[in-house]
Amino acid sequence: MSEKNVVPVTVLSKTTWTPNLFSFTVTRPDSFKFTAGQFVRLGVNPSKLKYHQQQNSTTDKALDEDIFRAYSIVSSPFDEELEFFSIVIADGAFTSQLQHLQVGDELMLNTIPFGFLTLARYQQPLPKDLWLLATGTGLAPFLSMLQDLQTWEDYEHIILAYSARSQEELAYVEQIEQLQENFGSLVDNPAKLIFIPIVTREPMAGALTERLPKLLVDGSLQQKAGVPLDPESAHVMLCGNPEMVEDTKETLKTMGFVMNRRGEGNIAVENYW
Ligand SMILES: Cc1cc2nc3c(=O)[nH]c(=O)nc-3n(C[C@H](O)[C@H](O)[C@H](O)COP(=O)(O)OP(=O)(O)OC[C@H]3O[C@@H](n4cnc5c(N)ncnc54)[C@H](O)[C@@H]3O)c2cc1C
Ligand SMILES: NC(=O)c1ccc[n+]([C@@H]2O[C@H](COP(=O)([O-])OP(=O)(O)OC[C@H]3O[C@@H](n4cnc5c(N)ncnc54)[C@H](OP(=O)(O)O)[C@@H]3O)[C@@H](O)[C@H]2O)c1
Repeated sequence: MSEKNVVPVTVLSKTTWTPNLFSFTVTRPDSFKFTAGQFVRLGVNPSKLKYHQQQNSTTDKALDEDIFRAYSIVSSPFDEELEFFSIVIADGAFTSQLQHLQVGDELMLNTIPFGFLTLARYQQPLPKDLWLLATGTGLAPFLSMLQDLQTWEDYEHIILAYSARSQEELAYVEQIEQLQENFGSLVDNPAKLIFIPIVTREPMAGALTERLPKLLVDGSLQQKAGVPLDPESAHVMLCGNPEMVEDTKETLKTMGFVMNRRGEGNIAVENYW
């Protein structure tokens, strides 16, 4: 069945981080509104990609099929373009095609924004600190939130912990440092965003090396942040690998945190598969 509320968007740029990770921007339809942290459904018809036209493979009927997947929006709600951060799964129906994107290619955007991993879900009064814990491309919704000045005004400390297998796969580090500088100066506090890189499968100077739940239990995440993690003073958001989300959520519960429902509670999560 074809998807409703779909409009074409054009690829404007592509950044390749590693053979398995890339980002791209597309045109933003005038009427499309979203809240930082939300996701959309993006569609590709492989036969329409320039790559297949260049390979003369467009007559292959199997390629002439619309494939849709959920994608978090990296860009801020105020940007003129929409940015996305993508994995490449070798045998994944969507990303094995999406990896061939070129500037000028057309994708489909379902213009209904989805998802509740947004800061609006929390009720006032807000606690002091916001902890954003991501694995892999689960960084995306947090990058959007961090480009919204309101996030910086609402919390005393924002701790972003971002876990990848290797240093190479730790994308967006320079952009995060740029956000620290730019938004930090807008709120007169260059130290407000505390960035904690985690690299789990090789050593990296300045990065933690264990998985998030272990780092929380032994206190090394809190120590690295220089901020205590306490249910009275923190909201915690988790995004990415569903096993990380589950294991970290359970760990946080033992520390007194509770899932956020109807505004009450401090943990909010989003699973990517
Ligand atoms: C709410 C939501 C938001 C999402 N946002 C993003 C996003 O911003 N960027 C993104 O790359 N993906 C995102 N995803 C995942 C995305 O929808 C697809 O699963 C992904 O593009 C792979 O599609 P595929 O058809 O190639 O493989 P699929 O058949 O969809 O997935 C095959 C397997 O690949 C692994 N996998 C899937 N996605 C990822 C991933 N992102 N990182 C690591 N392993 C993965 C899992 O083991 C999964 O079972 C999101 C998913 C959800 C539910
Ligand atoms: N080099 C490669 O072969 C390669 C590279 C990238 C992607 N891929 C493909 O992409 C997929 C994985 O992508 P990815 O590396 O972005 O995602 P990932 O496997 O979710 O790993 C990202 C980060 O999450 C951590 N993590 C995983 N499970 C966790 C848990 N239960 N609790 C806490 N942390 C956890 C990982 O630590 P750990 O290192 O401890 O698992 C890693 O630091 C796979 O399907 C793979 O086929 C392969």
